[in-house]
Amino acid sequence: MDKIVVRGGVPLQGEITVSGSKNAALPLLFASLLTADECRLGRVPQLADIRTALRLLRDLGVQYDWLSDTEVTLKADAVHHLEAPYDLVKTMRASFLVLGPLLARFGRTRVSTPGGCAIGARPVNLHLDGLQQLGASIRVQQGYVEAEAKRLRGAHINLEFPSVGATENLMMAASLAEGTTVLDNAACEPEIADLALLLNDMGARVSGAGSSTVIIEGVPTLHGTEHTVIPDRVEAGTFLVAGAITSGDVFVRGSRGGHLQAFLGKLREAGVNIEETADGIRAHCSERPNSVALITQPYPGFPTDLQATETIFENRFLHAQELARLGADIRVHGNTAEVRGVAFLSGAPVMATDLRASVSLILAGLAAQGVTEVSRVYHLDRGYERIEEKLSQLGADIRRVKSKK
Ligand code: UD1
Repeated sequence: MDKIVVRGGVPLQGEITVSGSKNAALPLLFASLLTADECRLGRVPQLADIRTALRLLRDLGVQYDWLSDTEVTLKADAVHHLEAPYDLVKTMRASFLVLGPLLARFGRTRVSTPGGCAIGARPVNLHLDGLQQLGASIRVQQGYVEAEAKRLRGAHINLEFPSVGATENLMMAASLAEGTTVLDNAACEPEIADLALLLNDMGARVSGAGSSTVIIEGVPTLHGTEHTVIPDRVEAGTFLVAGAITSGDVFVRGSRGGHLQAFLGKLREAGVNIEETADGIRAHCSERPNSVALITQPYPGFPTDLQATETIFENRFLHAQELARLGADIRVHGNTAEVRGVAFLSGAPVMATDLRASVSLILAGLAAQGVTEVSRVYHLDRGYERIEEKLSQLGADIRRVKSKK
């Protein structure tokens, strides 16, 4: 398994360009199942999760072609298999998003349940309750969800929690249902608004996406289109933090301040200078940051993916112990982490536990004195495109050591 080796203490300086959003691109790729026509997506990031999504789509019978590093075309005119197997859904929970489109277009599907994962139980009850309200008959047996419906019917659905995945699955399914669906307490994330843009370009009638009430008037068929994925707000936030905590000066080209307001507010409170322009966001910081209190919440609150204190997932502090190996003073009480600032961190070997935890270890390594070796970085490759190259461009002393296997 690859390792990332970081020698800390270098202030990061310069400019990098943000990649397309992983969390937006995944549902957009799966939305291609809603039509037999070709869909073309631009600014798709090169990530392990994207390759997993494409592998699943190919297994189902979707043809895809990369036109360039970031542009892919997909055509679902010969779907011959309606099942998402355990090994792919287990590797990537977002695979569960094929459920809504397959059911709506083909009338039946069989999708493995995701099971637990490192950061919590992550059930799918809201996806299934919503589809049942759209008229699907659902059975869960032997670890698989079997869903059937001749044609889904619009309904008024009130989500108990604004789940991102459930909102996306239900929006895609309702687009091909008969009649109107109202989704109340829907997730408001920018990735949801991006999905609605794509669906509407395919001929769907979705309004209110990005707010807590989404209205979907079903249509009988959808057609092909072209769409560019929004920039990745989590990747942008990660680079801005990297600039700030190394007393550096970093400009993230292409990042959208509008998607990061809660996060930028906290950086400002911590004493980081933030400049938002039409082309991107700049963060620079010459002083030691102030402490801040924060709590994660569904959008527009502080994102769990850029987290410190956690209310969305029950087990997202696995990295606290690893950060302690660098000398951090972190006490976890239930879903709260209390971090006392220390004068400096010192490099040490650490192990990544999940995607966002991995990047926090790299960030800490950049700010620490000496060398930090982060092992198990396969988590990182699921969500950050060429991170060591991008950080090197900013002057970081960072390299990947390939495993010998
Ligand atoms: C998405 C993001 C992930 C982010 C998360 C929260 C993608 C591919 N992933 O994940 O990066 O951390 O949003 O912002 O976009 N829940 C239920 N029942 C359900 C569904 C969810 O109880 O049916 C709970 C989950 O266990 C969790 C919370 O709701 O505690 C949030 O989950 P959800 O918003 O669905 O996150 P994902 O779509 O899985």
